[in-house]
Amino acid sequence: MANPELAIIPRHVAIIMDGNGRWANKRGLPRTIGHTKGVEAVRDTVKAAAAAGVEYLTLFAFSSENWSRPETEVNDLLGLLRKFIRRDLAELHRENVRIRIIGDRAHLKGDILPLLLEAEETTRDNTALTLVIAFNYGSRDEITRAVASIARDVAAGRLRAEDVDAMMIGERLDTSDIPDPDLIIRTSGEERLSNFLLWQAAYSELLFLPDYWPDFDRALFFDALKAYAARDRRFGGLSTKKKAPEAVAG
Ligand code: IPE
Ligand code: IPE
Ligand code: MG
Repeated sequence: MANPELAIIPRHVAIIMDGNGRWANKRGLPRTIGHTKGVEAVRDTVKAAAAAGVEYLTLFAFSSENWSRPETEVNDLLGLLRKFIRRDLAELHRENVRIRIIGDRAHLKGDILPLLLEAEETTRDNTALTLVIAFNYGSRDEITRAVASIARDVAAGRLRAEDVDAMMIGERLDTSDIPDPDLIIRTSGEERLSNFLLWQAAYSELLFLPDYWPDFDRALFFDALKAYAARDRRFGGLSTKKKAPEAVAG
């Protein structure tokens, strides 16, 4: 990468795309317009991540708690996801993007699950960016499903309780084939994880931005990469970052 500020590219960036409603509110527009604008930000972000050489981009599209919103809003959000897959799948496939879905699939009704499965199936052998869409996703639900599957194996005598370890839990999460996120970005000024990747975020760098999601774009994505490159990740150990020469001299 020519820009030295981007010397360290995160392998996996995950984004809590928040603030569509407030973006619209600020303009006196209905929330649904904010969601529509948000899809444009998604397109820009996928392109920016691929251009930067990020391997995995996870987008929090719909949480297991978002069903509690008014039915009209839920329908708007589902409609946009449908539209996004119908309209963008061919282009994403052409761009060699692999799509992975995380979240609870077992209780999805109607045409959404077949569409998500089609997107995964069509792009499964692609080798550029992996775009992970978190849909009907909640971390506690995901961890609960993983723990229940371990409990079933122990009860059936297929597994000994002493053999349960963190690696095994990780292998039973929806993200079993996806590395932990290096960087988690949340837009809209809220500083919380809202049940997103709680297990996987153990050592993620967190970046909270004031911008509403519809205003997110390539420039903000690259700024986020710069901020990440300046972080000092220690994983409980000691710093391996070289000190800047002036700091050593001074
Ligand atoms: C993010 O924007 C989209 C989803 C949660 C699906 P919001 O709809 O949460 O917008 P705000 O937070 O109300 O502004
Ligand atoms: C998190 O945003 C979920 C998504 C971005 C899909 P929310 O808007 O649902 O989160 P809270 O309710 O503000 O915590
Ligand atoms: Mg929100």
